[in-house]
Amino acid sequence: MNNEILKKDKSYLWHPFTQSKTSYDPIVIESAKGEKLFDSKGNEYIDLISSWWINTHGHCRDEMINSVSNQSKKLEQVLFAGFTHKPAVDLAQKLVHITPKNLKRVFYSDNGSTSVEIAMKVAVQYWFNKGKKKTKFVALKGGYHGDTFGAMSVGRTSGFYEPFNDMLNECFFFSFPEIWKGNNELQKNELKAFDEVRKIIKEEKDQIAAVILEPLVQGAVGMKICRKEFLSEIVRMFKESGIIVIFDEVMTGFGRTGKMFASNFIKEQPDIMCLAKSLTGGFIPLAATVFSEQIHREFVAMDFKKTFLHGHTFSANPVACSAALTSLKLFDEDKTFKKIKLINKIHLECLNELSRNSNISKVRILGTIAAFDYQKVSNVYGSSESLLLRQKFLDNGLLLRPIGNTIYLMPPYCIQEKVLKQSYEKLIEILQ
Ligand SMILES: Cc1ncc(COP(=O)(O)O)c(C=O)c1O
Repeated sequence: MNNEILKKDKSYLWHPFTQSKTSYDPIVIESAKGEKLFDSKGNEYIDLISSWWINTHGHCRDEMINSVSNQSKKLEQVLFAGFTHKPAVDLAQKLVHITPKNLKRVFYSDNGSTSVEIAMKVAVQYWFNKGKKKTKFVALKGGYHGDTFGAMSVGRTSGFYEPFNDMLNECFFFSFPEIWKGNNELQKNELKAFDEVRKIIKEEKDQIAAVILEPLVQGAVGMKICRKEFLSEIVRMFKESGIIVIFDEVMTGFGRTGKMFASNFIKEQPDIMCLAKSLTGGFIPLAATVFSEQIHREFVAMDFKKTFLHGHTFSANPVACSAALTSLKLFDEDKTFKKIKLINKIHLECLNELSRNSNISKVRILGTIAAFDYQKVSNVYGSSESLLLRQKFLDNGLLLRPIGNTIYLMPPYCIQEKVLKQSYEKLIEILQ
């Protein structure tokens, strides 16, 4: 059975972020429960990265299954232009309630990239509707916002998009001053970033539609973390200059950083927020871009040209909205933030232990995210050493995907204390 699936996979499939020539055979997963995945050979894997940062309450949670099943029996899908439904409005109300106070309007789509694309298009059209041409963006060096063209433009310094460079929109970038235990260049790096921002604002302000930021944590470039005071000051600078601020909380949203959103760490608030990944607890694709009323108002007019002519076929899918509502309910019912605190405590304890290994550096932790660099592996994305290390983790029952030489953990919140501690013990052993 296993071989048959692999044979078919090899014949018909093309996997994301995978070089089929050099990668190991994919693992055939048959089922999952809680923090564990089970393959067709009887092996189990601890999902220490929440299946690409989405799973919150655990795989195959009964409450989630019931919610999806019940909604599917009632209404599985309806177009969202000219129609609406209870799961969509209830979820929008909930999102408006839990996101920063100034955010009041929800636009649904299907994934993180589309939530970013929508934020960028709305920012440009907001200025257009006001009779101004502002089409350029500011972003952080190394930021990642997804793989569609707009998202690639603001993420072009992530290193993934060389073939498309000539097709991407112009964008201005400033440095991300990352923190880690023992970094004594931080103040210098922050001052450099502030200088870069001042220069961009001074010289390009009139052309800039918006700035887009992964608040506090840059995920795909290697779980880099900045200070909340730095983020706060950056946001203040852009807002003071009348530039729209977009927070891409696709990864940081829904508890990852220790609070519901990274925005909750700072006073200044974004004008637009992008949400996806954990929105449905990792069950079904769904994304939401949430806007301030000031932005939304510019699109409400008798003139049809002011309409936001954008939509995805599966926008506001009722089953996905229902899953999201259940996932948000579980945050309260499960006392999820207590679990998040415990994960953070275990990260702190275990990384303390792990950092005795002299090959480990740049330890950084925020909420449920823990990361460090491992000197024995080259810092090149997709290098053979990095693939070998990933395979070694899998052979030991740990699902971890190093990014270059960065190893990070971001487990589902349901992970049992014992299982997380045992995973760290194995990790310590492997890295020795
Ligand atoms: C911050 C951020 N934005 C956007 C995306 C794109 O999301 P998706 O893969 O759902 O398109 C990602 C994906 O990792 C992300 O981390």
